[in-house]
Amino acid sequence: AVELSLRPQYLAQYIGQDKVKSEMKIYIKAAKQRDEALDHVLLYGPPGLGKTTLAFVIANEMGVHLKSTSGPAIEKAGDLVALLSELNPGDVLFIDEIHRLAKPVEEVLYSAMEDFYIDIVVGEGQTTHAVHVPLPPFTLIGATTRAGQLSAPLRDRFGIIEHMQYYSVEDLEKIIQRSSMVFNTKIDPEAAIELARRSRGTPRVANRLLKRVRDFAEVKGEEAISLVTTKHSLHLLEVDDEGLDQTDRKLLRMMIENYGGGPVGIKTIAANVGEDTDTIEEVYEPYLLQKGFITRTPRGRSVTQKAYLQLGYPPKNEK
Ligand code: ADE
Repeated sequence: AVELSLRPQYLAQYIGQDKVKSEMKIYIKAAKQRDEALDHVLLYGPPGLGKTTLAFVIANEMGVHLKSTSGPAIEKAGDLVALLSELNPGDVLFIDEIHRLAKPVEEVLYSAMEDFYIDIVVGEGQTTHAVHVPLPPFTLIGATTRAGQLSAPLRDRFGIIEHMQYYSVEDLEKIIQRSSMVFNTKIDPEAAIELARRSRGTPRVANRLLKRVRDFAEVKGEEAISLVTTKHSLHLLEVDDEGLDQTDRKLLRMMIENYGGGPVGIKTIAANVGEDTDTIEEVYEPYLLQKGFITRTPRGRSVTQKAYLQLGYPPKNEK
């Protein structure tokens, strides 16, 4: 029996990201034909789009094991050496948040990625010596929300770089239908579309909202999640008809009321809404930009006419 889990196991089950999928399909097939490890892969894009899921799918398709860690979890070069020495030929090492690797760790990674060896220094004082440790050929899959934060030498060592995009409403709808099956829940098609429209292009958000809406529907005794219940629960969750949440609206309102709609610097925005600048830049800003609620200018971010209308303000004065 095919096990149905929330995270797809194979490329054929992975919905959306068609460009990434069709490219990866070729690279995986070619590597398997040559009986080689897949080249190193960098996945970048906003959080919740399935970078980790895709890394597991790639390892699965290659028929190899995956070891998972994250940039901040690897404190010393020795930690990385330990991880690398556990790999079998062709295995995947997955490093999430790879832009947060410590510099000495990153430097060990260079020779590991390029030539599959590491040089480590062992012993103390008089007995100090360098040891050359060969590694099995392996695939590093790195994930990051911002490719621009990676140092050039690290970025250049990835043979495959894939940019993950926000999902279309149609693809999110398919993901929601699939997840409902996994949850053993029925959902009306109009309800699935409504949820998809309000999930900010992000499967993680879609699945989280689906769980909450299902709670409301079940308590109401609905046989299938209805559109009415979906709208009602999203209203209670303070997710608006464009998928904006409380923080999005707080941010836009603050820019409008305190700064006349901008331009406002990113640090000022972060301080005013009580989030750190990374969260603003990686989570909130990309979605607001792509939906056309803010624009970037050399002097900071500005609120658009569309945002004024969405939040119920009169049209902005044209300056
Ligand atoms: N669940 C989360 N993301 C998914 C995706 N891209 N395809 C299928 N199921 C998913």
